[in-house]
Amino acid sequence: MSPSSAGSAIDRSRTSYGDEGFSRYLRRAFLASAGYDDVDLDRPIIGIAVTRSDYNTCHRDMPGLLEAVRRGVLEAGGLPMEFPTISLGEILTSPTSMLYRNLMAMDTEEMIQALPMDGAVLLGGCDKTVPAQLMAAASADKPVLLEVVGPMLTGSWRGQRLGACTDCRRLWGDHRGGVLDETEITEARGELVTTAGTCAVMGTASTMASLTEVLGMMLPGGATPPASSGARLRHGALTGRRIVEMAREGRGLPREILTRPAFENAIKVLAALGGSTNALVHLLAVARRAGVDLALDEFDTVAAHVPLIVDLKPSGRLYMEDLHRSGGIPAVLKQLAPHLDLTTTGATGTALGELLADVPEHQEWQTAITTLERPLSRPGALAVLTGSLAPNGAIIKTSAASPHLLRHTGPAFVVDASQDIAAVLDDPDNEITEEHVLVLRYSGPVAAGFPESGALPIPAKLARQGVRDMVRISDARMSGTSYGTVVLHCDPEAAVGGPLAAVENGDLIRLDVPARRVDLLIDQATLEERLTRYSRAEPPARGWRRLYAQTVLPASQGADLDFL
Ligand code: FES
Ligand code: MG
Repeated sequence: MSPSSAGSAIDRSRTSYGDEGFSRYLRRAFLASAGYDDVDLDRPIIGIAVTRSDYNTCHRDMPGLLEAVRRGVLEAGGLPMEFPTISLGEILTSPTSMLYRNLMAMDTEEMIQALPMDGAVLLGGCDKTVPAQLMAAASADKPVLLEVVGPMLTGSWRGQRLGACTDCRRLWGDHRGGVLDETEITEARGELVTTAGTCAVMGTASTMASLTEVLGMMLPGGATPPASSGARLRHGALTGRRIVEMAREGRGLPREILTRPAFENAIKVLAALGGSTNALVHLLAVARRAGVDLALDEFDTVAAHVPLIVDLKPSGRLYMEDLHRSGGIPAVLKQLAPHLDLTTTGATGTALGELLADVPEHQEWQTAITTLERPLSRPGALAVLTGSLAPNGAIIKTSAASPHLLRHTGPAFVVDASQDIAAVLDDPDNEITEEHVLVLRYSGPVAAGFPESGALPIPAKLARQGVRDMVRISDARMSGTSYGTVVLHCDPEAAVGGPLAAVENGDLIRLDVPARRVDLLIDQATLEERLTRYSRAEPPARGWRRLYAQTVLPASQGADLDFL
């Protein structure tokens, strides 16, 4: 029954007392106090990382999912052992959950290594939890499967179907524009986030769940079952059973699964989904840990021929429950098969091509997915830019931008992250026009932990005139649920002397997405002269924020800490 002749995981890993026999004795003595005997302990032990928290409403239903995974582990002859890690709820974590992604990755990796287990199931869902867990898995040398809580269901207000959080942003924009009054915006609030689970659109959580499935670190069909569904619980049980097999076989280590072809498949699916811009940063970080050489511009080149075929907000019309009813990620992969490496083998141990043989061809009722012959838009959902404003790269989600702004030249209006941004933009005395390019700086990883502030609000005066999009450029990220003509992740960031630091109000900026350029139209000598006046800010005085600011890698390299 034991996974290896060296005995149970309880015995193979040891607490250091200078007496191995005593360590084994004491472990079993303490576990006896919890009701475990040798029959329990001499079998594959499966650690289950639990991230339920009152501060993470998306993970509210995790106890039920945990029970399902436990049941699967027991059915397959393993012993489930729950352990907690940090939980990152997107909305309640200040100043931004991204500041703690690497901390969660460290916590998770270290616990997988430190605690006796033959394999692990990592339960996550909300935006940063899945990337952190993937990063941890890539660094761990035990079989690992990820399982997510699943998306929330949509709500409805005055006949409008609503889902977090693209609609949250749209309604708030309407409120700022004077279309919805205080009573209406408050009433709508109760219908935006209606159940447990992750955001209902193709935001970061949905994107990362989908890509985890594509990478092969989650069993097929795991990304889309809603949090409240039996399908979610059945997938949890399946995951519990499979991880026991993986632990017994000692195969399916994350580094065997996270190969370069697997990442290339993930990049192509990201384009087909019109997925979150945050996925670029997260995939770069996971690849780096997995020892896969992946560069930012490959997100553009690898996916150069893959069109948008999934009709979910913010790029399209629908919600995750619709994608689930349309067959989920396996149905998306079926359509994309001509573009994919079908020899990749994830946690199932079966090649992708073989798995897809069992997936039916596209049917009309699969409304959230279309075919390669009838794509929703041309290739290029995510474009990687370079230019004098972003020598090391910047990105834009073309699929969620306004076509008329993809080539635009306009004067800069600059705000620094330290300012009260909404107040500055809404000041009736400012002379912002819809031709302006809004520049936000000091919002990169070093400056601020890389918050999601890049989709700056449209100045109230313009919003009331009906303007809903403008070109915005920053070293920040934006939420996967956001939309607009927003250039993000400018690298190097302003805080380390990147060119954003040199921009002055009125400077002309030219965005040319077809040419993949973003440029500040001042001469090089002026740019350099302005940057000589720049001085780098002191890092925070102590603690995690100091370690983070001193060791975080730039956005174009995944923003992991340099020593991880
Ligand atoms: Fe948790 Fe959107 S806030 S997934
Ligand atoms: Mg988000």
